Order: sequence, then C-alpha cells, then structure tokens
Amino acid sequence: MENIFKNIEQPISLPIKRVVQENANVKTFYFATSLKSKPGQFVIMWLPRIDEKPFSIAFDEAGELGLSVAKVGHFTEKLFALKDGDLVGIRGPYGTHFSLKNDFKKILLVGGGYGVAPLATLAEEAMKKNIDIDFCNGARSKNFLLFQERLKKLKANVYTTTDDGTAGEVGTVVDTASKLMAENKYDSVYTCGPELMEKKIVGLSHDHHTACQVSIERYMKCGFGICGQCTIDSSGQRMCLEGPIVPGDFALAQEEFGRFHRGASGKKISF
Ligand SMILES: Cc1cc2nc3c(=O)[nH]c(=O)nc-3n(C[C@H](O)[C@H](O)[C@H](O)COP(=O)(O)OP(=O)(O)OC[C@H]3O[C@@H](n4cnc5c(N)ncnc54)[C@H](O)[C@@H]3O)c2cc1C
Ligand code: FES
Repeated sequence: MENIFKNIEQPISLPIKRVVQENANVKTFYFATSLKSKPGQFVIMWLPRIDEKPFSIAFDEAGELGLSVAKVGHFTEKLFALKDGDLVGIRGPYGTHFSLKNDFKKILLVGGGYGVAPLATLAEEAMKKNIDIDFCNGARSKNFLLFQERLKKLKANVYTTTDDGTAGEVGTVVDTASKLMAENKYDSVYTCGPELMEKKIVGLSHDHHTACQVSIERYMKCGFGICGQCTIDSSGQRMCLEGPIVPGDFALAQEEFGRFHRGASGKKISF
C-alpha cells in the first residue's frame, strides 16, 4: 500500500536561543541553526498543542536563524510568552525567494510592518554584491518601525515614513516610493507588507516599466504544496510553493490581489 505520509515533512525541535524586542509589537526569536535559506523564504513554526503558522525568515547567518513576529492573535500571544530554552518545532525553508541579477546596479526596496524582515535579508545580500539600495521603511508611528538600526548599518539610503510623523517624513512608503521612482531608474523593485500597499507599489513599478517582485501572503496549512489552502483564485498557483515571492505583473493579473484573501475555512475576506 502506498505510504501517504512519506512526503509529509516533520518539524525539527529547537530551543529558543534568545528573544529580542524589536519594537512595540514585534519580537525576534533566535535559534542556533542555519537553514541556508534565501531572502523571502519562510518556515512553518509549530507550538505543540496550539497550532502551526508561517513566518518569513528574518535572519539566517552565522549559524543563527531569526524570525521576527508581530503579536496579533492566539498563536503569536502564546509564542510571545515563551522564554530562552523553550522548545518550538520548525520546518522549512519553503517557497520562492527574491532574486538579484549579477548586473544590477540600483534597486528599490519598499516594506511595511513585519514585511521589512525579508527585505532586510535581501538588502544584506545586495550589499555584498555592491548594489546601490534605496530602502523605504514605513510604519504607523516611530514605536512600530522595524530594523532601523539594522538598515543604517548597511550602505543603504533609508527613507523613513510614519503615518503620524513621529519619525522620518509624515506619510506612507507609497508617497516616498512614488517620488523615488519618478527620479531614479531602478533595475528592480521589491516589496513586502500590507497587501493594499504592495498593490500600489506593484502598480507604480508597472507604470514605470520597472521589474518588480512582491511577497503574497495567503492562509497556509501544510506549507509545501499538498493542501491547496494557499491557492490564488483562478490561476491555481499555491503561494507556499509557486510563491510567496512572485513577479509584480503576475500579482497584478490576479483578480484577488489587493481585493480579498481567504481565511482558514476558505471564506473570502476583503482587504
Ligand atoms: C509566507 C508568510 C510569511 C509570514 N511572515 C510573517 C512574519 O515574518 N512575521 C509575522 O509576524 N507574521 C508573518 N506571517 C503571518 C503570520 O503567519 C500570522 O500573523 C500568524 O499566523 C497569526 O496567528 P495568530 O494565531 O497569532 O493570529 P490569528 O488571529 O489567527 O490571525 C491573525 C491574522 O493572521 C493571518 N493568519 C492567521 N493564520 C494564518 C496562517 N496559517 N497562514 C497565513 N496567515 C495566517 C490572517 O490574516 C489572520 O487574519 C506570515 C504569513 C505568511 C503566509
Ligand atoms: S499551504 Fe498547503 S498548498 Fe500551500
């Protein structure tokens, strides 16, 4: 009889090495392991007797893996209560990744919320390749900005915006990215954050005839292509396997991009 469990991936059990409070709502959980992941890939984290959830890889260097998590609901509240030494299950890395071409000279990265995490890993890779980086980092206010110090250590031009003007320019990353795209020629634009923001950035890139890569989050269960939960309507592409990083023009062609996603039961939820 066929073993239907043979392709089911098991989590590895890892103790939390350290926890860093990054801002008012985000903590980074570090583990002493390396997954040799690429920027934009994600893992599925398992908390025994609670659930499994996907998180982007925020660090994967020098034998340390870091996941930057925003506290939003039941799972993340339970995670935030854990301390150094507590065990969690991790499987992955999964999904597609942001890519840089060897002849790239200048790129634009646009992030909001915890979406800044995978873009920071991309910026670090781009810096090693001597690519000029403009990075738009936005949040609703100063206390919610992520990785400002980490980005300042890079040779990146960091453009900070907050909705309330408590840090950087008052406004959104879309305002800044729009000005930058009008003034500069970029080899590619990369974006990760709230989907309505992403849609505007992808649209601007399209208008400027600039290639773009975007991270599309959909509700995930298995994380490696067998359950169909994360499928985008009509195209049938699974965001855990054929995504989460997709070309901007693919995203723009999806009816649901920036309009709706589906919850755990498959019910439509509007953005
Ligand atoms: C590819 C990918 C990368 C992600 N990276 C990060 C990250 O780096 N940091 C971070 O804080 N969050 C990340 N998320 C979102 C994270 O998985 C959810 O916020 C988390 O599961 C919320 O669980 P909860 O029980 O605390 O909250 P809930 O109250 O259950 O959910 C809050 C919201 O989180 C989303 N969500 C819940 N469960 C899932 C699920 N199984 N799959 C996808 N989305 C879900 C839904 O939009 C929901 O409305 C990522 C999601 C995806 C798909
Ligand atoms: S989460 Fe199961 S197919 Fe993508």
